[in-house]
Amino acid sequence: MTNAIDLACVRFAVPDLAKQRQFLTDFGLLVEQHNQHLYARGTDTAGWCYLAEEGDPAFLGLDFHAPDRGALERVAAIDGLDIVESIEPGGGWHLEMTDPDGRAVRLQWGLAPLEPLPEPSRSPFNMGGVRGRLGTRVELTQQPQLVKRLGHCVLNVADFRVSENWYKSRLGLITSDEVFVGSEDNALGAFLRCDRGAKYVDHHTLFLVGTGTPEFNHAAFEVADWDTLMIGHDRLQQQGYEHRWGVGKHLLGSQVFDYWKDPAGFTLEHFTDGDLVNAQFGSHKAPLEQLLGVHWGPQGQP
Ligand SMILES: [Fe+2]
Repeated sequence: MTNAIDLACVRFAVPDLAKQRQFLTDFGLLVEQHNQHLYARGTDTAGWCYLAEEGDPAFLGLDFHAPDRGALERVAAIDGLDIVESIEPGGGWHLEMTDPDGRAVRLQWGLAPLEPLPEPSRSPFNMGGVRGRLGTRVELTQQPQLVKRLGHCVLNVADFRVSENWYKSRLGLITSDEVFVGSEDNALGAFLRCDRGAKYVDHHTLFLVGTGTPEFNHAAFEVADWDTLMIGHDRLQQQGYEHRWGVGKHLLGSQVFDYWKDPAGFTLEHFTDGDLVNAQFGSHKAPLEQLLGVHWGPQGQP
């Protein structure tokens, strides 16, 4: 049963809201402050995709979009939870669960869509075999908001199978690639996606990594294309932020990636050109080497 159709938001506590607001703005999000909370969004209209309150650095939880009110009711029935009307900007209804590692996981529905923001754009690519731009120079329109939307979140978990079962049973997530170490029965974690049948969705919305220690790993925000990703890279580098990994192209999921550390110490990623898959893609197994491997760019560290 599909109870989640996309990731909606990641929530943090950060020690310095002003510093964090500047980073998020440089990262390409539009940031507003309401009642000592930062609300950040991309150009998509689905809602605020990053929230922060002041406090010692902590990952507070993540929110998913439900397809309808019925999904909230189904999930509420599992754990006997209440559906509450949200008092946050955008309104709507949500229920709040606690995952096996104690994180708050919200399922939300009925939020008012945000006003669209102007998106970066560029002319079609000339790509060797397929010449998409003939007779004109590249037109590249930059915008302050480089980010389109929140794409995925990666969580290190105490027990992969326990967390996998929890997220699948509550949200209806399905496996795209299960990553193993050595032999196929020794699972480290899995890339999970939303189950929308014939509709195409991101290769992963949530990646659970069974490190044994619950920890936020990273959250990834989609940008329009490679030019936008590199514009963001230059912008963040010029501001002196700490770079973590990239630019490169993942094997699993195929995203062009660029990872940065925010002032509170959390890793946030820009990505573009990720795989979009539907039910026909099925579920697969892949060795750790493929997780760390790249089509090009620097390899990951085990
Ligand atoms: Fe990622």
